[in-house]
Amino acid sequence: MPDPFTVRKLRWRDLDRVLEIERASFGADAYDRKLFADCLRAGEDLFLAVERGRIVWGYLMGCARGKRAELVSIAVDPAARGEGAASALMESALRRWKRRRIDRLSLMVKTANRQAETCYLKYGFRRVRRVRRYYEDGSDGWLMARNM
Ligand SMILES: CC(C)(COP(=O)(O)OP(=O)(O)OC[C@H]1O[C@@H](n2cnc3c(N)ncnc32)[C@H](O)[C@@H]1OP(=O)(O)O)[C@@H](O)C(=O)NCCC(=O)NCCS
Repeated sequence: MPDPFTVRKLRWRDLDRVLEIERASFGADAYDRKLFADCLRAGEDLFLAVERGRIVWGYLMGCARGKRAELVSIAVDPAARGEGAASALMESALRRWKRRRIDRLSLMVKTANRQAETCYLKYGFRRVRRVRRYYEDGSDGWLMARNM
């Protein structure tokens, strides 16, 4: 049985690996190094890495304002999908948001991205509304949200 995934705060030295996962996950839509570096520099309140065997397999980035937080992005290396890495990230993020007394979470997901939507449904998010042409490639997104 493989070791369990563990979740910790992201560090500067993880940046190259996170970019690798980001590009493998989102292709042309990938966030660039500057965006991740700016978030790290700003001490973004939730920037988590999931590790197994001392290798980073995925990350989650969230951003809070007052009592509301947005799940900005989550991605797992294609080689480690379906093994619980995103679940470990979601569970850790939800615990951290609860401790910080966040009372509502929201996110955007492409309507075609069934894997991610299924993952968000598992963690209590529900569709709020369709946002037409939300993404740069012209595709629609679901605004999803949950109360804590
Ligand atoms: C979405 C993503 C983060 C899930 O990561 P993962 O580590 O494979 O997910 P887990 O193994 O922890 O599974 C968590 C849940 O996601 C859902 N899920 C995962 N893979 C799925 C699949 N192939 N089909 C349908 N649902 C799936 C399930 O609800 C699963 O829970 P379950 O195992 O209890 O059924 C991953 O597919 C990914 O990185 N996708 C590309 C990036 C992306 O689209 N991010 C979201 C942007 S909004």
